[in-house]
Amino acid sequence: MAPEAGAAKDRLAAAVLISGNGSNLQAIIDHVRAAHLPCDIRLVVSNEPAAFGLERARRAGIPAEVLDHRRFPGREAFDESLAAILDRHGVEVVFLAGFMRILTRPFVERYEGRMLNIHPSLLPDLKGLDTHHRAIEEGREFHGASVHFVTPELDDGPVVIRGRLEVRPDDTPESLEQRVHRLEHRIYPLAVEWMATGRLRLDGRTVVLDDATLSPEGYEVLEEDS
Ligand code: GRF
Repeated sequence: MAPEAGAAKDRLAAAVLISGNGSNLQAIIDHVRAAHLPCDIRLVVSNEPAAFGLERARRAGIPAEVLDHRRFPGREAFDESLAAILDRHGVEVVFLAGFMRILTRPFVERYEGRMLNIHPSLLPDLKGLDTHHRAIEEGREFHGASVHFVTPELDDGPVVIRGRLEVRPDDTPESLEQRVHRLEHRIYPLAVEWMATGRLRLDGRTVVLDDATLSPEGYEVLEEDS
């Protein structure tokens, strides 16, 4: 049978990697569908068997696989299996969405310019964990989330989009987390759209959108612009 018009080749084959709730995964799935993006989410992989995101994938009819890191002797072996699974599904781009594993250099280099992550801070500020708590402790005026290309150094890759909000005097880590999540659900789907439509690429450490170089802070989305 002849392939459907627009099928296969001109559609981006993507995988989403998760470890938990998968609300960003959901936002991506919803946007890909609603906006009819030329992107096929071929696969969702979780290193945590109990991740709710696996259920979200199944409900959306997307193959979901568990790759439990505890069953591997080390990071290299885990990453090799992960790469094999992604290859088996013909995956070209990888979206990390709450994936709580550090990836090895060979894996990251394999997907150079083809792997995005979302981090709950205004990178390069507040790399690492517990960012909402730290934002309050450190008296930050602004906080938010960043979508960035993944490089071998943790939370260090070139920034594509930052979603920014103003910290309020009565914010708690929990309220900040909720507000940041709402921003994440706007900025990650947007970055996925840019990838799927061929508007976004990485040139060395420079992010290029529509043939224009983005500033190191990336494209800015403000909470109040919704
Ligand atoms: C998000 O806050 C993301 O920034 C961080 O992990 C969280 C994942 O949330 N990397 P969810 O699983 O997408 O709901």
